[in-house]
Amino acid sequence: MALQDKDRIFTNVYGFQPWNLAAARQRGDWDNTKALMERGQDAIIEEIKASGLRGRGGAGFPTGMKWSFMPKESKDGRPSFLVINADESEPGSCKDREIIRHDPHKLIEGALIAGYAMRARAAYIYIRGEYIREAETLFAAVQEAYDAGLIGKNASGSGYDFDVFVHRGAGAYICGEETAMIESLEGKKGQPRLKPPFPAGAGLYGCPTTVNNVESIAVAPTILRRGASWFSSFGRENNKGTKLFQISGHVNRPCVVEEEMSIPFSELIEKHCGGIRGGKDNLLAVIPGGSSVPLVPAAEIWDAPMDFDGLRALGSGLGTAAVIVMDKSTDIVRAISRLSYFYKHESCGQCTPCREGTGWMWRVMERLRTGDADVEEIDMLFNVTKQVEGHTICALGDAAAWPIQGLIRHFRPEIERRIAENARPALSEAAE
Ligand code: NAI
Ligand code: SF4
Repeated sequence: MALQDKDRIFTNVYGFQPWNLAAARQRGDWDNTKALMERGQDAIIEEIKASGLRGRGGAGFPTGMKWSFMPKESKDGRPSFLVINADESEPGSCKDREIIRHDPHKLIEGALIAGYAMRARAAYIYIRGEYIREAETLFAAVQEAYDAGLIGKNASGSGYDFDVFVHRGAGAYICGEETAMIESLEGKKGQPRLKPPFPAGAGLYGCPTTVNNVESIAVAPTILRRGASWFSSFGRENNKGTKLFQISGHVNRPCVVEEEMSIPFSELIEKHCGGIRGGKDNLLAVIPGGSSVPLVPAAEIWDAPMDFDGLRALGSGLGTAAVIVMDKSTDIVRAISRLSYFYKHESCGQCTPCREGTGWMWRVMERLRTGDADVEEIDMLFNVTKQVEGHTICALGDAAAWPIQGLIRHFRPEIERRIAENARPALSEAAE
């Protein structure tokens, strides 16, 4: 069942109303935030747990559980921190941008409540460098919140002191990885750290830290106001709530829309995007969760529930719910090769399988694209993706491997056709 307007959290996602504090208050933000905080830190965390909210940045880790990892008592006087990941760089993802542009006070109020629940001293919002106008809006909204006494000393009259800092990134995709983000905030080169320790144990400046995506934090105040059971009434078991989907590519009306988790792909596209360009039969494949997840062919995606488990069952994932639709005009090998180039370019170079493997995979992908390859190289490439997957410090290695695996799994005949047309002898024949 599609979501009704009254159940949408982001009521200003298209910016029909101003983003500013006065308008945000009219939409219900900052409405007696003090009372929400007075419920107590543990009660807030329990409510978020009960809501079933899973991280909206891509990995889907249960948000309430993540908050509960933070220490209740400060060790050696060390503060705790909340870091909000607004380094939205996943190709296809553009939802956090809309929240910051049009509903920044949901994020700032969420930062206060989440920070309070985790006993954090401050929140750092790390926004991607390319989001220049969005950063301006965010700086202005944070200043409004300070001026109104909503954050800062005695935030919202709660007796709790809480600061919010906005930090602009400098254009590196890898700084969206949580530990690289922490390094970057500390003024170092943005390179991922080995986990464990997870940030809750040793994060920003070595202090307990939780890193959450913008959407995960921005929905928290509404969940507390309307109740965990309201939020968890949407979606299905283990895949609860509402979600911002970002649909791009070959649909008639690309858009960002908040929908019920688990909505079937076909309903999402027909209802909000005016259908596939050229009609349903013109659909070739979909990357359902941002470029890091494998593509799904048309026949498999059409009735699939758009959620973590439904897409995992298809060998893909919900990721950030950035739905990239490709019709039959797409050169699918070229599209995946372009993604390979992206990951090669963005690899931080710290670990060998990723540094060497991403470049290697891209070069082979380019030869498969032009057909200047041997058929045996398809399996060789697949094997290399398996050597990279799971053998790197951070998920970028996996992200580079999975789109190629999806391509080979579903579009092998297309790759073979190109090679056959180029009529090169197979490696084994050439050696004879
Ligand atoms: P992850 O699964 O390693 O971790 C997810 C979160 O759970 C992290 O905050 C981690 O600290 C926490 N966590 C996991 N296991 C834990 C444990 N045992 N104890 C304590 N905390 C634990 O995934 P990661 O690397 O953070 O994110 C990968 C995802 O990010 C990909 O699936 C991709 O979809 C997404 N992504 C999103 C981008 C964007 O622009 N939003 C860009 C690139 C990737
Ligand atoms: Fe850097 Fe790639 Fe290793 Fe991640 S997987 S730490 S991006 S080299």
